[in-house]
Amino acid sequence: MRTQVAIIGAGPSGLLLGQLLTRHGIDNIILENRSADYVLGRIRAGVIEQSAADVFDEAGVGARMRKEGLLHDGTQICFDGRRHRIDFRALAGKPVIVYGQTEITRDLMEARAASGATTVYEALDASLHDFSGDKPRVRYRKNDQDFEIECDFIAGCDGFHGVSRQSFPAGAIRNFERVYPFGWLGLLSDTPPVSEELIYIHHERGFALCSMRSHTRSRYYLQCSLADGVEDWSDDRFWEELKRRLDDEARAKLVTGRSIEKSIAPLRSFVAEPLRHDRLFLAGDAAHIVPPTGAKGLNLAASDVHYLSEGLIEFYRKGSPAGLDRYSERALARIWKAERFSWWMTTLLHKLPDASDFDRKLQHTELEYLVSSEAAQKSMAENYVGLPY
Ligand code: APR
Ligand code: PHB
Repeated sequence: MRTQVAIIGAGPSGLLLGQLLTRHGIDNIILENRSADYVLGRIRAGVIEQSAADVFDEAGVGARMRKEGLLHDGTQICFDGRRHRIDFRALAGKPVIVYGQTEITRDLMEARAASGATTVYEALDASLHDFSGDKPRVRYRKNDQDFEIECDFIAGCDGFHGVSRQSFPAGAIRNFERVYPFGWLGLLSDTPPVSEELIYIHHERGFALCSMRSHTRSRYYLQCSLADGVEDWSDDRFWEELKRRLDDEARAKLVTGRSIEKSIAPLRSFVAEPLRHDRLFLAGDAAHIVPPTGAKGLNLAASDVHYLSEGLIEFYRKGSPAGLDRYSERALARIWKAERFSWWMTTLLHKLPDASDFDRKLQHTELEYLVSSEAAQKSMAENYVGLPY
């Protein structure tokens, strides 16, 4: 088989890149080691920046998001039992769109199927070869048969545990990482959200977040111990603990119900540099991880893919490698700003197990400063709605 761009991974990054390339007449094949149902079964965050929404529009997959997504003009920060509003529209001039990543993935999959482009699901043992020459190849196995794709470029969109980053030669990539000593326990339920806007809660028992997928489906999170398993958290225990962390008004209003999904995720900040080795490129979670507190994971994937697709389109249209040569530097500049913001939101709002009394005083002062200073709120708002591309 031969294609122009071989894409490893059919998460949001790989599917979005494939869609943008296909729309510009650039042939591509996506290899995904799981099934389509498995990919759609993963519940991820649900806050989309305007710039990311514009990339989804450009890829031709924005219609349902524009119709069903909820526009949020602000968010709420709660500590000491009181809520404070950060007004995105007034402070940063735009709202965010609340729309589940699972739905974006579904929209991308449908668009890809309609375009006729090839996606190979359950493509096992992908291995990347010869990307330092001008004829890179990708080998994989499916139904006990071996296959090989010859291509011009390989796009590693295969997430944190994928093969692409690991295929960089030793010494050609550097990792920067912070692992946080707590996790998030998430619960999805078909109950009306407790608030019209997301509530980020700092509480002495730990962080909590009230989010949503629609007017009838809620997503809640609790900071939990990394030693916990979902089996330790019955629905009743989850709701009781959430109530303890809510303010009085939210506690009185909370509608509880049966969970339809529950999962625990560790929190990590991670960046690999550079994002390119000759004809191999990394994008999305393959290149970086943010803790979910700033809701930046999907949004960063969209900006990476925007820069990478621009580079590839310029290469095929004008024969110029300039955009590809700038990709790593351009993408990393934005990635690090989102890393900083996600780290800041995480350390601002969580109960930090190793904190000294001094650290806790500073954390509380940072919260007080945020809710009392327009300058501080403006900084949070411009980062939350998304820095420019
Ligand atoms: N071969 C083929 N596919 C692979 C391989 C491999 N060796 N390893 C991993 N994959 C697939 C995974 O099964 C997954 O479907 O690559 C895909 C990567 O998707 P994501 O992990 O969703 O990463 P990405 O597309 O970059 O999405 C970024 O989605 O994962 C969230 O938090 C993340 O919000 C962020 C956004
Ligand atoms: C979510 O709705 O899942 C969500 C929202 C905001 C975050 C993280 C997760 O910061």
